[in-house]
Amino acid sequence: MSTQQIASIGIVTVSDRASRGEYVDRGGPAIVDYLRQVLVSEYREVLRVIPDERETIVQTLSELCDEQGCCLVITTGGTGPAERDITPEATEAVCDKLMPGFGELMRKVSLEKVPTAILSRQTAGIRGSSLIVNLPGQPKAISECLDAVFPAIPYCVDLIGGPYLETNESRLKAFRPPSAVKANN
Ligand code: MTE
Repeated sequence: MSTQQIASIGIVTVSDRASRGEYVDRGGPAIVDYLRQVLVSEYREVLRVIPDERETIVQTLSELCDEQGCCLVITTGGTGPAERDITPEATEAVCDKLMPGFGELMRKVSLEKVPTAILSRQTAGIRGSSLIVNLPGQPKAISECLDAVFPAIPYCVDLIGGPYLETNESRLKAFRPPSAVKANN
């Protein structure tokens, strides 16, 4: 292939209050910062701040995957047990297949930090050529969760036909089987 595909990555804050401007969104910017620290390959950020409404989440995730062509969409918020928390259900509704290992691992590592990690129903799944990953709304949960699962994300994106994501190995080393590692240039 002559041209390297530039990745698009969706970052979605799901919060009634942040979407109404009553609260400063800290989750979305924490994901932006995390990606800037970890990724060295070129990518475009596509940011959204939306309320905890199932239809809005479904439409936003679909738009980011199908129209914006995001290979990865990371959500924050709406994963808990409260009445308005609906992000995992909306994620499951748009995905062709679920990736339950992401939620399992994120809860496992989070439980080592905080007992209420068990309250997050965060999940992940594949829609077409996009991986969608849910994170809790707490800004500190973002690096706690992503440090655990991000090593597997670049290879997952390879497997679904996305661009080759490269990480800053001094910050986070992505795992790929040797046969899937591309030589430089
Ligand atoms: N996971 C980590 N790593 N750190 C946290 O502080 N907070 C928990 C949990 N998971 C937390 C966490 C709490 S208190 C809740 S209620 C759930 O995530 C759901 O949060 P959400 O509804 O904002 O997504």
